[in-house]
Amino acid sequence: MRHPLVMGNWKLNGSTHMVIELIADLRKELSTVTGCNVAIAPPELYLDQANHQLAGGRIALGAQNVDVNLSGAYTGETSATMLKDIGAKYIIIGHSERRTYHKESDAFIAKKFGVLKEAGLIPVLCIGETEAENEAGETEAVVARQLDAVLSTLDATAFNDAVIAYEPVWAISTGKSATPAQAQAVHKFIRDHIAKQDKVVAKQVIIQYGGSVNTANAAELFTQPDIDGALVGGASLKADAFAVIVKAAAEAKRA
Ligand code: PGA
Repeated sequence: MRHPLVMGNWKLNGSTHMVIELIADLRKELSTVTGCNVAIAPPELYLDQANHQLAGGRIALGAQNVDVNLSGAYTGETSATMLKDIGAKYIIIGHSERRTYHKESDAFIAKKFGVLKEAGLIPVLCIGETEAENEAGETEAVVARQLDAVLSTLDATAFNDAVIAYEPVWAISTGKSATPAQAQAVHKFIRDHIAKQDKVVAKQVIIQYGGSVNTANAAELFTQPDIDGALVGGASLKADAFAVIVKAAAEAKRA
């Protein structure tokens, strides 16, 4: 039985004041919810503050990025060991915004995956096709290529204690989510693709859906058998909306 994970990706949003308020509200809203793992990934600058405010609670700390190097002359970067040191657990890599704006390649992202595993952190590997790729019928080829970058450098066991987030690029921040059936078909493809190398790993790996998840569409997405929670952007910035999504995941997977 897989335990769902709902993770908030705050992206480039936040302030010391917002971290205080939002985490306090989230702790209140989620204090009695069981059956779903929860994490938030505030901007890097606020990770340490967030970690202190999450202390003793059930919400885990995540981060939005990591460098491939552990130390040295790499201006502006943050290492896996630093993230581990300040208490982060789940680290998002390969987000489409980083693939697009920072030209991150599959190979570079696979390297980050290895660095995180080495540091004992949990990679949240984002994969997904663009609108053009979707329309050209290339969705499966794209996600297979993105997965193979990791599977060919490490192996399927690297996905033990790792998370995959299927995020169709055309659904991110657009208000246009994939339908539950569309998402389920790709999630099943992803699980089957990993199963070709390791059935046990494929069965237990958490595959989140991401892309315009909100209070209205979350419950139905989570009823799909291969959707194990969500990576939530916009809706994670409001405690009540994020709590509804977490509760929907807990409820759907309990049933
Ligand atoms: P969104 O973002 O929920 O705002 O679409 C999801 C993501 O980018 O992880």
